[in-house]
Amino acid sequence: MIHRPRAPLLAAGLVLVATASSAQDSTSSTTDEIAKYREMLEDDNPADLWVLRGAELWKTKRGPKDASLEQCNLGLGAGVVKGVYAQLPRYFADTGRVQDLESRLVTCMMTLQGLSLEEVTQRPFGNGSEEKSDMEALVSWLVSESRGLKLKVPTAHAKEKEAYEIGRQIFSYRAGPHDFACATCHSQEGRRIRLQELPNLTTAEGARKAYGAWPAYRVSQGEVRTMQHRLYDCFRQQRFPEPRYASDVITALTMYLAVSANGGELQAPTIKR
Ligand code: HEC
Repeated sequence: MIHRPRAPLLAAGLVLVATASSAQDSTSSTTDEIAKYREMLEDDNPADLWVLRGAELWKTKRGPKDASLEQCNLGLGAGVVKGVYAQLPRYFADTGRVQDLESRLVTCMMTLQGLSLEEVTQRPFGNGSEEKSDMEALVSWLVSESRGLKLKVPTAHAKEKEAYEIGRQIFSYRAGPHDFACATCHSQEGRRIRLQELPNLTTAEGARKAYGAWPAYRVSQGEVRTMQHRLYDCFRQQRFPEPRYASDVITALTMYLAVSANGGELQAPTIKR
């Protein structure tokens, strides 16, 4: 499971391309092929490499304080990793903010390891080649520690309610050159852009399926991508200004999506196109 040769993956990719092009006129059969491809790789997800690296990074001493992240409190107490992702984002009293997993990791790297914000956020996303992101690895591992669990993101604290409400409003906020909101692409059933199905994120079913699937190994990018990257990419599609990594805007949107998905099972890391 740990050692995974690239050849079968590439071979499977070629099969997919070949089949997809012979079925040009039939979008649904291409979707079926992608589903089949995913199934084939289910037990052999390249994301496992990110998971392994993340587990190592957690224990690695770094920064001016020469400390690991093992004392990081992700919401269920210092050092607890099992199940934490199922209850994020949440309010943290020490920062006085609602934080998602990534913004919380930024906090831990700064406080425990003594790194600066610039150092911690200089490479949030890998470049599809040699330049890998520590964040993508850490998030992959931490999310895998909640795999199979049901989401129960808390909403009792006033700040949690507020973050959800801000996220809900941003979701429908139309602006930019095309006057798009998230809702333009994600609030109806059965919509698609070219071959891509656009999930309806306003229903519990749609939100659960979408939210529970990230992070995902993206075949087209050769990287594991996190929810931060997914939202960053959608802001780009919306022609909005690029959001800052781990900013409160992303956290609010993530809160809205996560709470909408509450009760759904976490499947990640998965494989996506
Ligand atoms: C112009 C259309 C468009 C807009 C606007 C848009 N998205 Fe997306 N979104 C997409 C496409 C295309 C995908 C990829 C679908 C695929 O590949 O399966 C996607 C995927 C997603 C996913 C992952 C779904 C899954 O099942 O994996 C989430 C979550 C998401 N968008 C959230 C948002 C949010 C939040 C906003 C507003 C900031 C937004 N999107 C704005 C087009 C859009």
